[in-house]
Amino acid sequence: MDELDQLVERAQHEFARAPTPAELENAKARFLGKSGRVTELLKALASMPADEKKSRGAAINRTKERIEAALYDRRRSLAQAELDAQLRAEALDVTLPGRRRGEGGLHPVTLTIERIEAIFRSMGFDVADGPEIETDWMSFTALNNPENHPARSMQDTFYVDMKDEEGRWLNLRPHTSPMQVRYARAHARRYAGVEPMPEIRVIAPGRTYRVDSDATHSPMFHQCEGLWIGENVSFKDLKVVFTDFCRAFFESDDLQLRFRPSFFPFTEPSAEIDIAFASGPLKGRWLEISGAGQVHPSVVRNFGLDPERHIGFAFGMGPDRLAMLRYGIDDLRLFFDGDLRFLSQFN
Ligand code: DAH
Repeated sequence: MDELDQLVERAQHEFARAPTPAELENAKARFLGKSGRVTELLKALASMPADEKKSRGAAINRTKERIEAALYDRRRSLAQAELDAQLRAEALDVTLPGRRRGEGGLHPVTLTIERIEAIFRSMGFDVADGPEIETDWMSFTALNNPENHPARSMQDTFYVDMKDEEGRWLNLRPHTSPMQVRYARAHARRYAGVEPMPEIRVIAPGRTYRVDSDATHSPMFHQCEGLWIGENVSFKDLKVVFTDFCRAFFESDDLQLRFRPSFFPFTEPSAEIDIAFASGPLKGRWLEISGAGQVHPSVVRNFGLDPERHIGFAFGMGPDRLAMLRYGIDDLRLFFDGDLRFLSQFN
């Protein structure tokens, strides 16, 4: 290998070692620049005899071309490497999940109320809705709870310092029981003269208000009223329907129910309904979930019906309580604090 071949080889070697385009240009200058090796060889031609000059000059020019070719190769591969690196850095992983908008979900109490509605609908009950601002008469008087009677403090609520257009005092309803009166009166009017009158079978879930606030009471809470009135409806029917409801709601066939004597102005006799689970963390403990009873004759009269013919039962239960039991939650306030870390667990 002659001296020119060695020069080409050295150039190829140095070009290959240049890691960046800038260093490649420095290496180029050492061979092809103004005082580079090839330029010096060409300058040396001047002092050569004419016959040698021609062949030597041609050899140097071939050498120059080979070095230039090596330079262009290396430039291309450095540019390609740079492009590859850039493409890798900007690569899109099309298999990644896209960014979505946040999605809303239903509140656990809403889910619970929907569940209650579905079960009672399957048992032939209608679902009704009514006002949260009620008259004194609907919240209390019509339910056999006269003005100034101490039993009113059982459902102590927020009073609105305002009367409706008929001059009746208003309050935030302390229970859903006024819906018994509203629904039954509308039913009685609608079927006036129809013999026999179709039975009343309805539940009415919704928001209710009391002067109460701790881990198991909130000034705003939920109730679900139930009413079943007919000519042949008895306490036995209440037990069957409520037992079926609880077993369906908690998906537990061996759930126990207990009807404990109690007092409400609007029912006689009255009961509290307690349940006990046959397994799980609450096993064997009696938990109160609803008030109930046979509708008082004065209340049936306020429905616009004859208490000698139309009898039945009513109940009022707490969906918040049912949601707490079903989901294993021990503080009612969690439902109403609006903390998404809590609420998003239900969707
Ligand atoms: N309204 C009652 C309360 O809030 C619950 C209740 C008890 C409703 C007995 C009823 C009933 O319909 O029959 O404490």
